[in-house]
Amino acid sequence: MNTITTDTWKDRFGASVMRSLATPQLMLERGEGCYVWDVDGKQYLDFLAGIAVNSLGHAHPVLVDAVSQQIRTLAHVSNYFATPSQLELAERLCRLTGAGEAGRVYFGNSGAEANEAAFKLARLNRGNGSRTRIIALNNSFHGRTMGSLALTGKPPMREPFEPMPGGVEHIDTSTELLEETIDDTVAALFVEPIKGEAGVLDLPAGYLKRARELTEKHGVLLILDEIQTGIGRTGRWFGFEHAGITPDAITLAKGMAGGVPIGALVTFGWASELFTRGQHGSTFGGNPLATTAANAVLGEIEQAGLVANAAARGGQLRASIRSIDSELIGELRGSGLLIGVGLTEPVAEAVASACLDNGLIVNAPNDSSIRIAPPLIVGDAEITEFQRRFQAALAALASA
Ligand SMILES: Cc1ncc(COP(=O)(O)O)c(C=O)c1O
Repeated sequence: MNTITTDTWKDRFGASVMRSLATPQLMLERGEGCYVWDVDGKQYLDFLAGIAVNSLGHAHPVLVDAVSQQIRTLAHVSNYFATPSQLELAERLCRLTGAGEAGRVYFGNSGAEANEAAFKLARLNRGNGSRTRIIALNNSFHGRTMGSLALTGKPPMREPFEPMPGGVEHIDTSTELLEETIDDTVAALFVEPIKGEAGVLDLPAGYLKRARELTEKHGVLLILDEIQTGIGRTGRWFGFEHAGITPDAITLAKGMAGGVPIGALVTFGWASELFTRGQHGSTFGGNPLATTAANAVLGEIEQAGLVANAAARGGQLRASIRSIDSELIGELRGSGLLIGVGLTEPVAEAVASACLDNGLIVNAPNDSSIRIAPPLIVGDAEITEFQRRFQAALAALASA
C-alpha cells in the first residue's frame, strides 16, 4: 500500500536527497496524456512536460509498448557492440536534421553530456593551434557538468565551482558583438536558438543568420544547443530551421525519448570529421533501451504530425493567453509550444504557485517570466482547460 502523502514526504526528502535540490512542492505519482496526479490523488494539467521532455505526454502507449518490448529483449550491451535501434536512431537524426550522409551522431545520456561532447568537438577545431577561444552567450544555459557549466552564461552558477575549463568567453547577445568577436582565433560559437532557462528569450532578428555568415567565413564551428528547442518543440523539427541556416553541430536531449534519459551531438559536414577513434564515449550512451525509446517518440512525432501540431497549438495557446484579462500578462515570447509569458511585475514564483493550487503545472525560470511547454500532443480540450486554470490562478493572485 502507498503510505506516502503530502503530509509525510517532505521531511524525508529534505533528509535524504542531496541539498543541491530544493524540496519540491509536489510529489507526483502517475500521469496520462497531458495530466499527472499527486500522491493525494489531486489532478494537474501538465503544461511544463518535465521541462520540454514528455513530448508524447505521459504513459503514451507507443512509448510504453516500445520500451517494454525492448527491455524484455535487450536493454544494454556496451559500446563494444552495435544494435539495430542505435543505428536506426543515428540515421534518423541525420535525416531529420538535414545533416544527411555527411552527418554523424554521438549518443550520451543528458543535455549536459551532449554539450560536453560538443565542447570537446570545439577543442578539436584548433586550426594550426591558434584557435583557442570558445564563445558563448551571457544568460545562456548549457548544463551543470564542468564543461557545460563553463559554457553557461550565468556567473553565480559557475563561481562556486571555479576554476572552470579554460578558454570560454561570454558575450552579450547582439550582432554587433558577434562582428567584433568572431575571428580566426575562435574555435566555436555556442548559441541556444531560444534561451529557455533565461525565461524563453528570443534571439534578436537576423542573429543566427549573421552568426552563420561570420562563423563560416572564419572557420568557426557554429554549435547550436537545441536541447530545449529541438524535437518539434518550436513548431519546426529544430530551432535553427526558423532562421534558414545549417549549423555545424547541434546538441539534443530532453524531448527526444519522451522521458527516457538520452542526449546526442549531431554534426554536419566537416565537423563530422573532427573526432577520431577513442576520443569520446559513455557506458550507457546509445544503449538499446534509450535509442528504442527515442525511435518510438520520433516515429510517433512524424507519424502523428506533431511538429505541425506544435506550430498550430502554439498559436492557439498564445491567443488563449492573450484573451485572459489580467494586468500581469505582458509580452509573449518563444515559438510553437515553447512560450515565455513576460509578467509586468516580478511575481513569477507566486503565479506558478497559484497555478499549482489551481491544478496547473507551469514554471518560473526567473522573477518575471512564466514558461509554458506542454506535451506536443496537446489538443483543443487541454488548451481550453489551460485557459480556465491559468485565468483562475491569476484571478486568485489578484484578489489575494
Ligand atoms: C538549453 C539547455 N541546454 C542544456 C541543458 C542541460 O540538460 P540536462 O539537464 O539534461 O543536462 C538544458 C536543461 O535545461 C537546457 O535547457
